Amino acid sequence: MTDNSADTEMLLQVRSIGKNFGGVRALDHVNFDLKSGEVHVLFGENGAGKSTLINILAGAIRPDEGTIELSQKPVSLESVHEARRQGIAAVFQEFSLASELTVEENIFLGSEETTGIVLNKRKMRDTASEIVNRLGFDIPPRAQVSSLSRAQQQMTEIAKAMLTNPKILILDEPTSSLTEREVNQLFELMEVLQSEEVAIIYITHRVAEIRQVGDRVTVLRDGRYIDTVDAKSTSQQELVELMTGRSIGEFFPEVSFKPSDVCLALKNLTTRNKSVIDVSLEVRSGEIVGLAGLVGCGKSEIGRACFGIEPIERGEVEFLGETLNHLDPNSNLKRGLSYVPPDRRREGLLLDRPTRENISLASLDLATMSTKAVLHRSSERVITHNLAERMRVTPLALEKDANTYSGGNQQKILLSKYIARKNKVFILDEPTIGVDVGAKAEVYEFLASLAAEGVAVLLISSELPEILNMSNRVYVIRSGTVQAHFEGQEISEENLLNAFFSESAQGNTIRSATP
Ligand SMILES: Nc1ncnc2c1ncn2[C@@H]1O[C@H](COP(=O)(O)OP(=O)(O)OP(=O)(O)O)[C@@H](O)[C@H]1O
Ligand SMILES: [Mg+2]
Repeated sequence: MTDNSADTEMLLQVRSIGKNFGGVRALDHVNFDLKSGEVHVLFGENGAGKSTLINILAGAIRPDEGTIELSQKPVSLESVHEARRQGIAAVFQEFSLASELTVEENIFLGSEETTGIVLNKRKMRDTASEIVNRLGFDIPPRAQVSSLSRAQQQMTEIAKAMLTNPKILILDEPTSSLTEREVNQLFELMEVLQSEEVAIIYITHRVAEIRQVGDRVTVLRDGRYIDTVDAKSTSQQELVELMTGRSIGEFFPEVSFKPSDVCLALKNLTTRNKSVIDVSLEVRSGEIVGLAGLVGCGKSEIGRACFGIEPIERGEVEFLGETLNHLDPNSNLKRGLSYVPPDRRREGLLLDRPTRENISLASLDLATMSTKAVLHRSSERVITHNLAERMRVTPLALEKDANTYSGGNQQKILLSKYIARKNKVFILDEPTIGVDVGAKAEVYEFLASLAAEGVAVLLISSELPEILNMSNRVYVIRSGTVQAHFEGQEISEENLLNAFFSESAQGNTIRSATP
């Protein structure tokens, strides 16, 4: 629709934008428009071009062709600062925080140039606390960013974007590692902003969120504009069909569990920083055990403690009946214990190395890859290619550096890296962050196949559907302790949410937590 009356209410108009990365056509003549006060969802598969488009709007990259108009005036968004000055702020998919600085320092980082105001420390503190309070987020303003969980870092990014009171706020998968409560806080904030006529561009792979927060949805596929539809009246099914160009059947696989021996047992585990307190749990061969709970409840730290990343004060980690004394990721990996971290950029991938190397890195010592420390290039190529194909990494051009891949595809590369090794135990922390609905099904199939092969899987996740549909048993973590344990039919949304929030959860208590 391009009649004049519609045009006048347009805050932003993008016409025929194109962007190439080497041989890859990331955006091909894409149109997009945004009205004041609307939430406009960008939807598309991994690699469809969503982040590329918003990176252009946020001034982070330059388009090869096309025009951008802000309030009917052509603009050239040469830098992130320039975009911010024009009223466009973004929360990027991959965080841009300086990890050695504090939350408040990060919120203000680089803002002197955009706001033109130099603030004293005191004023900075007050403003930072004000923003964080307004958002209702639980983040300590003086904490160093490196000490925060992924979710807290995500909240810090959002606070940072809010500093300049943008007219257009871009959120690239802001809820990917938040749980219910934080997501609701963010949604409330979005409503307030909407009432203040702020326009929001929202990217998500959680299809259910689209109707909840969106007004309109623009669907991209392979860098091309497909359609713009109404968010409230378009069904999830229709959206997924627009996104993939095909219909998607069953989403979660049938998982049949045949649990046998205990492979991994934590005994009264307490970490030095008390993020985990007296946790005992078991994971058996042939089952998937879910670890659920709110952001910051300590579920992530449990996984990290098993790998020596989180120092342990008391308690034991047992693997196949043997107490592990030296916990570190590499020796664990060689023993048969794999840990897939939630932060693919910080702990998982070497971004400026070829994708092939990233995938083979965790299994170079295996006989299939090398003999007597001599790497077999051709078998490395074949093996990594097959793994990446299984995980549907696109494009399948593994000599390209990992950072040339879209966010969701980087996540698939990370998973490929770990599945290269057929280990006895897998601990996965938020394995589907940023992965599109089609490819998620692939990841779930893979987890189910691990369980069927007798692998023990500990699935740490903030995605409730994932926990509900994939787990044989679930431990709910609250304030660093095991709050409840559910098995089989007891694993319901209601039971889990009760345990997340209430002091004395219904269902089984910790006393029956051992299977
Ligand atoms: N710096 C880069 N160098 C080369 N190719 C790139 C670069 N950045 C993006 N691409 C390519 O551009 C295409 C679009 O990527 P983009 O990151 O925009 O996808 P996306 O829709 O955000 O996907 P996701 O849901 O996985 O985040 C992909 O094929 C990607 O591999
Ligand atoms: Mg992206």
